[in-house]
Amino acid sequence: MSGASRELVLGVGAGIAAYKSCDLLRRLQDRGYSVTVVPTPSSLNFVGSATWAALSGRPVSTQVWENVHEVSHISIARTADFFLIAPATADLIARIAWGRADDLLTSLVLAAQVPILIVPAMHPSMWTAPATVANVALLRERGFTVMEPEIGRLTGSDIGQGRFPESSAIIKEFDTLTGFTQDLLGKRVLVTGGGTREAIDPVRFIGNRSSGKQALAVAKAALLRGAHVQLIAASIDSSDLLGVEVTHVESAEEMGQALSLQFPTCDILVMAAAVADAKPRHLHSEKIKKNQLEVIELEPTPDLLANLSAIKTNQIMIGFAAETSELIASASAKLIAKGLDVIYVNDVSGGAIFGKDTTQGMIISRTGAHIALKEVSKDALANLLLDHAVRQLG
Ligand code: CTP
Repeated sequence: MSGASRELVLGVGAGIAAYKSCDLLRRLQDRGYSVTVVPTPSSLNFVGSATWAALSGRPVSTQVWENVHEVSHISIARTADFFLIAPATADLIARIAWGRADDLLTSLVLAAQVPILIVPAMHPSMWTAPATVANVALLRERGFTVMEPEIGRLTGSDIGQGRFPESSAIIKEFDTLTGFTQDLLGKRVLVTGGGTREAIDPVRFIGNRSSGKQALAVAKAALLRGAHVQLIAASIDSSDLLGVEVTHVESAEEMGQALSLQFPTCDILVMAAAVADAKPRHLHSEKIKKNQLEVIELEPTPDLLANLSAIKTNQIMIGFAAETSELIASASAKLIAKGLDVIYVNDVSGGAIFGKDTTQGMIISRTGAHIALKEVSKDALANLLLDHAVRQLG
């Protein structure tokens, strides 16, 4: 799926499997989706609103009577690209089948005009009850996708068909329905991230506020889309990034050296690192005493992207800019000067973005087209940038 938005509603019914949907939510976010969780009121007995709000980063409502002025049951239904309802109880399935709108989730489903995947979980005797069988058949006839529950041991001692499927099986179904493909299979994606540190003496350095979160998001997204991923990491903890080849560097010079080795064989470069623009002219081998710290002479570091664009062959190059004013003009000038295909300009006015999980700014491509993004997750931005690269790779 591509485009500026990847909006999803995760509906949660009152089954014990509700806690398993916490993992599901994370996996959907990894795919670049911004997720609005809509639990049924009774499901809050299993997993509370606070958990969903913390995991999704969004407010959680269960009734149309909350935020009435926003007409949420229509606005959320309109912005969503997809609905996933997991777990769905026999009662929730019945209410959807009958077109009820007695809570926010069922109201949304009634108003939705997008694909809906329902993942039932209930006791086998409820799953095989004639009413449920008829309701499921009716929903399938109307175009809903209703997964088959798994056969196995239930919460009690009973065994039968009714178990909530494994997250991986649900995600597989979701990927099929949303057209999520490993569109970077066989491609090499090189990502840089974090902030370089330019040593003044053995103790001090010149650094910056970059957290590396955006680079980690790009690396994860590219991996999920099938790429071979290399990350050049400047002061970032990448320990939870399994499957990515990581090179740790400290200074702009070291990053330049790593890039010159890895860039020639990559297909896509995503240059998310905040590279220091200047470094101390002299590196002191001894710690400088505080009374000698008044002036530190600086000299410029090389522009790594500009150097790479001079030797590039077929690589797609994506850069970042952090600006506080005149976003489009400044970023477009950098796009040209650095030979980039796409640039994402962060609006960092007021110290926003650094260290956060969300970002706001603008994607600008060589054609001059731009997409404004407001408060999207860094995972979502990662996927949008990769969408651009995939389109350009053809
Ligand atoms: N960049 C680079 N080499 C540098 C500095 C920056 O390759 N020495 C890259 C960054 O990784 C980023 C892009 O260039 O992808 C833009 O970085 P930014 O700091 O916004 O631009 P600068 O060229 O440093 O310009 P200025 O600081 O004057 O805004």
